[in-house]
Amino acid sequence: MPLVITEHLRQDQALLTQQLDLTPAEARLDVHVLAAHACGVERVWLLAHGDECMPPASASHYEQSLARRLSGEPVAYIVGMREFYGHRLMVNADVLIPRPETELLVDLALARIEPDDAAQVLELGTGSGAIALAVALARPGARVCAVDKSIAALHMAQENSRQLAALNIDLVQSDWWAQVPPQRFDLILSNPPYIAEQDPHLKQGDVRFEPLSALAAGQDGLDDLRHIISEAPNWLKAGGWLMLEHGYDQGAAVRSLLNSAGFAVVETHLDLAGLERVSCGRKT
Ligand SMILES: C[S@@+](CC[C@H](N)C(=O)[O-])C[C@H]1O[C@@H](n2cnc3c(N)ncnc32)[C@H](O)[C@@H]1O
Repeated sequence: MPLVITEHLRQDQALLTQQLDLTPAEARLDVHVLAAHACGVERVWLLAHGDECMPPASASHYEQSLARRLSGEPVAYIVGMREFYGHRLMVNADVLIPRPETELLVDLALARIEPDDAAQVLELGTGSGAIALAVALARPGARVCAVDKSIAALHMAQENSRQLAALNIDLVQSDWWAQVPPQRFDLILSNPPYIAEQDPHLKQGDVRFEPLSALAAGQDGLDDLRHIISEAPNWLKAGGWLMLEHGYDQGAAVRSLLNSAGFAVVETHLDLAGLERVSCGRKT
């Protein structure tokens, strides 16, 4: 006898909490997202129809998704989607799953571009295109050049750009600065890899499924930040800003790198958890 939706999801929530060491709230969200995706409905539909059973085809799709989640695969890869800055982005295992804390970098960037400004913006390491698209869509007068070394990531960014009908974004394959079009930018943004190679977190939880090339950056996690900061003054207009996401414990190191590279107005901003998350410097 199939279970009604409420009971079905309640049992699976308990299973996920136990097996993946999630909080009950995290597990509840996961089963609801997987079930809504399998049924082709919004999550709110599940609440309104909790005393019904899932149609057999949806139930079978849901069971397959749940098995993948129980093996540790992130929900975003299973449903192929993650929301970022109010936009639905397609994601797969070729790209980092955009994080809520990265929205701070977008907020800070938008605060420095007037609504009708024709600013030239560069994003280094675009992945799914999350940051570049959020900026491009909020500032249609700006032109955003978004680069990544991974051609597979660029395909995903291209697909997201098409779905969201962004007309002011250019995607370029480049190993950091190597193929960036020769011009000066008003704003350079990056959420580069910043985890130390030996950090045990790389072998835990959802992160295990994400591309290592999007996460790890040398022995202290600062290799890519060093490279980006040292070259950035050659690509910025006078008065232009470099804005970088980094690890919660890397603020002092990044401020020091920005000061050494000659940046002025070096400042670090806290994320919603109160952790140092984004550091910025202005080219004099
Ligand atoms: C932490 S992920 C950020 C992805 C996306 N911007 C976001 O915030 O969700 C870092 C990105 O940098 C890219 N990357 C790593 N090394 C690179 C390199 N040498 N040149 C260009 N991009 C690189 C990775 O492919 C990955 O997409």
